[in-house]
Amino acid sequence: MCGIVGYVGHRPALDVVLGGLRRMEYRGYDSAGVAVLDGAGALTVERKAGRLANLEAELDKVGRESITGTAGMGHTRWATHGAPIDRNSHPHRDASQRVAVVHNGIIENFASLRAELEADGVEMASDTDSETAAHLVARAYTDGDTKGDLAASVAAVCRRLEGAFTLVVTHADQPDTIVAARRSSPLVVGVGEGEHFVASDVAAFIEHTREAVELGQDQLVVITREGYEVTDFHGDAAQAKPFTVDWDLSAAEKGGHEYFMLKEIEEQPEALANTLRGHFESGRIILDEQRISDQDLRDVDKVFVVACGSAYHSGLVAKYAIEHWTRLPVEVELASEFRYRDPVLDRDTLVVAVSQSGETADTLEAVRHAREQKARVLAVCNTNGAQIPRESDAVLYTHAGPEIGVASTKAFLAQIAANYLVGLALAQARGTKYPDEVAREFAELEAMPAAVQKVLSTVDQVRDLGRRIADSKAVLFLGRHVGFPVALEGALKLKELAYMHAEGFAAGELKHGPIALIEDGLPVVVVMPSPKGRAVLHSKLVSNISEIQARGARTIVIAEEGDETVRPFADELIEVPAVPTLLQPLVSTVPLQVLAAEIARTRGYDVDKPRNLAKSVTVE
Ligand code: M6R
Repeated sequence: MCGIVGYVGHRPALDVVLGGLRRMEYRGYDSAGVAVLDGAGALTVERKAGRLANLEAELDKVGRESITGTAGMGHTRWATHGAPIDRNSHPHRDASQRVAVVHNGIIENFASLRAELEADGVEMASDTDSETAAHLVARAYTDGDTKGDLAASVAAVCRRLEGAFTLVVTHADQPDTIVAARRSSPLVVGVGEGEHFVASDVAAFIEHTREAVELGQDQLVVITREGYEVTDFHGDAAQAKPFTVDWDLSAAEKGGHEYFMLKEIEEQPEALANTLRGHFESGRIILDEQRISDQDLRDVDKVFVVACGSAYHSGLVAKYAIEHWTRLPVEVELASEFRYRDPVLDRDTLVVAVSQSGETADTLEAVRHAREQKARVLAVCNTNGAQIPRESDAVLYTHAGPEIGVASTKAFLAQIAANYLVGLALAQARGTKYPDEVAREFAELEAMPAAVQKVLSTVDQVRDLGRRIADSKAVLFLGRHVGFPVALEGALKLKELAYMHAEGFAAGELKHGPIALIEDGLPVVVVMPSPKGRAVLHSKLVSNISEIQARGARTIVIAEEGDETVRPFADELIEVPAVPTLLQPLVSTVPLQVLAAEIARTRGYDVDKPRNLAKSVTVE
């Protein structure tokens, strides 16, 4: 949550910072702000509640040409402490207005720090936890051992902070320097020619450089025009990991699409193909970083999948495949619940942590808890070098490319594919599948990009349907077996994008309560299994559809091409290609994504930035 960017170089800082904020607005959009150092001792700060567009309008009013300087920073906020109003927007300054700070995360001990500052006579100008950091840095810079040393002052403050934070700090006395620090919250450095960047995410500077450095836990970096220097919070030199971003600016742009989400839906075949590529070599499934031995994989006697939101749904899908292929029990758990209920874990437990961003606080804490209990952790992640893969024993990266729309689409499909690779890797290590069976399952996965492409070529019908049902009060989603998590995912997409009441149910549960919700004209989306693959499930679901149709529901049925048995029960029939049962979620989810996006567009909502949400959730 919150996007941060800092810059020192040779270009006008305001333009660079605003460009970075535009690419990071998906991280939070409650307010935005910038600070620019003019090199002659002036520090200009502008900030505004609401979307970045409000800040840009304010800057036009002030006159952008008056804000000169080649060092600066910016922030786009997802509010935690304090309402999203102008005075709570970042950057925050100290009383002398010489220090400016932007912050991502939560300073958990802010109340005692604030009380200490107020007892010292400091008057707070905002309701945020972040402002305390500005006053504390100013105090450290003015007095004591750290006097006049901005990096040492920031390090001293970091040592006192509890919680998760990324801080970027400037001081008007040091117009060519920016200091940034992180703990359990993301921060990367961009390395250019005569210019350096710090940001929450490489997207902020991908336009200028693809050379980056990921900072480790409790590290601090000083950037200047000439270079960067990394230390720990005690000022000792520290190692950070350089990497080259393997995607370019076009991946972070809409490329003619109205919304990122619509582009990302279309990118799904490529995301799937890239995720599978290189993971089956010489007849074996291989992971990206494996710090777990084959023997340890053989010893695994239980699997947990921990994740949030759509990533959790990808785990629910994978449970069917992993149990089927490995005969290991798989529990899928919301990461936010996991560590608080004392799950039974030991060194033979494999915890699969699934996260697009790799920085979701709930999932990160679940990973930490699992490792404390000696379980092995395997991360499935879309973001190179993020905190969750860094803290895991093995990693499988999804290669979906940057996902900017808040609603997960291509990352979700890539997560399902990656989870399946984990299942096959386990089956291979444990010998529950012969090599030729593993090869066959992999070949079936490899056929999926083409199947998803086929679905994409038929979605106009879904768009039309979306427009026709956009004024419904609610929509229900039903499925069985792997269709059940698809129903949950369809409902989540609709809730987050269209702000509509939407619920997913296991179709068999309907008669145990939810059927009472059915009323005349209520749209109910039913995700059908294949009539060939799971004939029993298919006929049970046909009965469920006829039960709801008899009670007036408007049935929208997603079914395999040529499934004639279901046609009489479908008020709307959406056909998807025939694929093996376990792979059906990869095709049947796509129309649900399109449906939610179209309903949201018709209702006039911003599909990429749904209200109250942010792309990456770095608070618990
Ligand atoms: O980055 P993560 O995969 O850990 O994010 C998990 C959820 O916050 C995320 O999937 C969220 O539910 C999406 N907005 C759903 O579309």
